[in-house]
Amino acid sequence: MPGTHRRNPQPDRLYGSAGVTIPFPLPPSSGIGLKPQHYAQALDHASAENAPSRDADLFRPGWVEVHPQNYFCEGGPPHRWLTAVREHYPLSFHSVGLSLGSAEGLDQAELLQLAVLCERYQPDSVSDHLSWSGSAGNRYPDLLPLPYTRECLDHFAAQVARTQDTLKRPILIENPSRYLAFSGDEMDEAAFLHALCEQTGCGLLFDINNVEVSATNLGLDPFAMVDAIDPARVGEVHLAGHAVENHEDGPLLIDDHGSPVTDLTWQLFERFIERAGPKPTLIEWDTDIPEYSVLIGEAARAANLLEAASVTHAA
Ligand SMILES: [Fe+2]
Repeated sequence: MPGTHRRNPQPDRLYGSAGVTIPFPLPPSSGIGLKPQHYAQALDHASAENAPSRDADLFRPGWVEVHPQNYFCEGGPPHRWLTAVREHYPLSFHSVGLSLGSAEGLDQAELLQLAVLCERYQPDSVSDHLSWSGSAGNRYPDLLPLPYTRECLDHFAAQVARTQDTLKRPILIENPSRYLAFSGDEMDEAAFLHALCEQTGCGLLFDINNVEVSATNLGLDPFAMVDAIDPARVGEVHLAGHAVENHEDGPLLIDDHGSPVTDLTWQLFERFIERAGPKPTLIEWDTDIPEYSVLIGEAARAANLLEAASVTHAA
């Protein structure tokens, strides 16, 4: 499919080995998770200004992200819309279905469908999660966490390498939202993620809302978690909101992507990009979808911070 923004490099080697230089081709601007109810407005705004503006209606996102699983059909309106959107925006595929951490290995049927879709749209970035969603023939509608052990790292790295070899491109892996910790962890999350990058040549999708959720639920320091991540590994950042359940022993945060980005997540984001410089940053909003203008307002806020970080970082 021809596309104005088909800038994805065509690798001439496989990515299942360490030491690969990783291209991260999304622009270091803010993007939005694109939902069907916003297709028409995203196209209407495709020629608007891609600069932070006090008037969010005049702001055009720098790129868009979709869940490829929503396009695993051969034709119909979803593909007509996505084809039109692809002509105007850099595109990211954020997979939610490979189940890379499953003990029996990733979901091969999902991987093959993803490969077909990547061939069709040539997305600028492909990502999935540090999680598992299936076992013994069962599928679960959740992104379940993994223990941070050497054995688990080697198994997960093998699945990432298999994915990259099939897709013939490096992928990004997202840090999870956690609700419980494993007693047998042998390393912390950052060490696990960095080792995964070393072993596979993959990059990181650093979800800063997930940091707030995990830190609050597990009693960790979110600022230390942000400071522990190597910015050179990060090809994309996610910002989102979460739900709060108040319990006797404190709040439990639920990663539902159904509300504005919180003040703490904005603070953590500023802290990260002050050190990292501007990174492709997505406003992720998957439930209780707001008006397009609300989503764009959040993206414009992120763009303002990225612009400021670009000045600070250059200085
Ligand atoms: Fe995310």
